[in-house]
Amino acid sequence: MILVVGGTGRLGARVTKDFARAGIAFRIMARGHSQPFPERDHGDFEVFRGSLSSASDCLRAVQGCGQVVFAASGFGLKKGGTPRTVDRDGALRLVEAATDAGVRHVVMMSMHGAAADAPTNFLRMKFAAEEALKSSGMGWTIIRMSANLEQFLTVMSQPLETGGKVLVLGSGDVPVTFTSTADAAALVGLAISDPALPGQTIEWGSGVHSLNELAAAILTNGGGGEIKRIPVPALRIMSVAARPFSPFLARMATAALWMESGAAAFDPMVQRRAFPEIPVRDLKESLGPRP
Ligand SMILES: NC(=O)c1ccc[n+]([C@@H]2O[C@H](COP(=O)([O-])OP(=O)(O)OC[C@H]3O[C@@H](n4cnc5c(N)ncnc54)[C@H](OP(=O)(O)O)[C@@H]3O)[C@@H](O)[C@H]2O)c1
Repeated sequence: MILVVGGTGRLGARVTKDFARAGIAFRIMARGHSQPFPERDHGDFEVFRGSLSSASDCLRAVQGCGQVVFAASGFGLKKGGTPRTVDRDGALRLVEAATDAGVRHVVMMSMHGAAADAPTNFLRMKFAAEEALKSSGMGWTIIRMSANLEQFLTVMSQPLETGGKVLVLGSGDVPVTFTSTADAAALVGLAISDPALPGQTIEWGSGVHSLNELAAAILTNGGGGEIKRIPVPALRIMSVAARPFSPFLARMATAALWMESGAAAFDPMVQRRAFPEIPVRDLKESLGPRP
């Protein structure tokens, strides 16, 4: 049995879909707040409705599991969680419960740039979770994925639905490495099955694009429209001023400033050469068919 913490989220839902298709038994842990649980009619799985903020929920969730995938996050939550309470404290609680329950291997979703002195709170929280897992005594695989491509495409294109313009945060011309959800899920699947992966920290990305390239692709795919740019000085203000009414917007502004610095770009092919069995998913596939 494999526990997928955050198994209803963007990545977690894709991971569990892949597991179901491969006939792998799994249990989903989530609160049921941000996304519904999947229907019971596809695959061999259990649902555990619980929160990472509860040590007893964590202990109950890991019972009988040999492996755990940690794909929960407080980054995108409008309320009820933050990177501090979910990505760090929740991960620490889960790692402790998994150690006590005899789990042998944990796959931890982290992010490129995670470091004790990283310039964003999210990256510092991710690093603390990595360190706790590495010193737990369990087997571990850390996947440092780059920014989620579909999440950015959604945030940027959402205003189009109400007659607005495609949103570009910052200058838009700085290269950024993005990861598609399907691509990250494929690596999680490999980490669960390949005995060579435990003990590795893998930097994962699908491709390098500027936000202007994403905006142009959205507009081409949608048949036209205009761009609304939020300049860097406005992002600086937003990263602080938006905190009380939209923590998510404040976190997105902070992430955009980090991207503007150039730190979010790396060549994904360096590590991908070791995983030729995972095909690269390109921007066109992530955009999907014309709306
Ligand atoms: N998105 C990115 O750009 C990015 C980049 C690098 C790394 N990552 C990491 O990749 C993983 C997947 O990210 P994602 O974007 O797919 O996340 P997501 O869509 O925001 O999903 C988050 C999941 O965590 C669950 N969750 C949140 N708080 C919880 C709590 N207290 N207890 C139990 N479950 C909780 C949510 O369900 P409920 O709200 O219903 O509980 C949901 O299933 C995360 O670990 C994230 O930090 C993401």
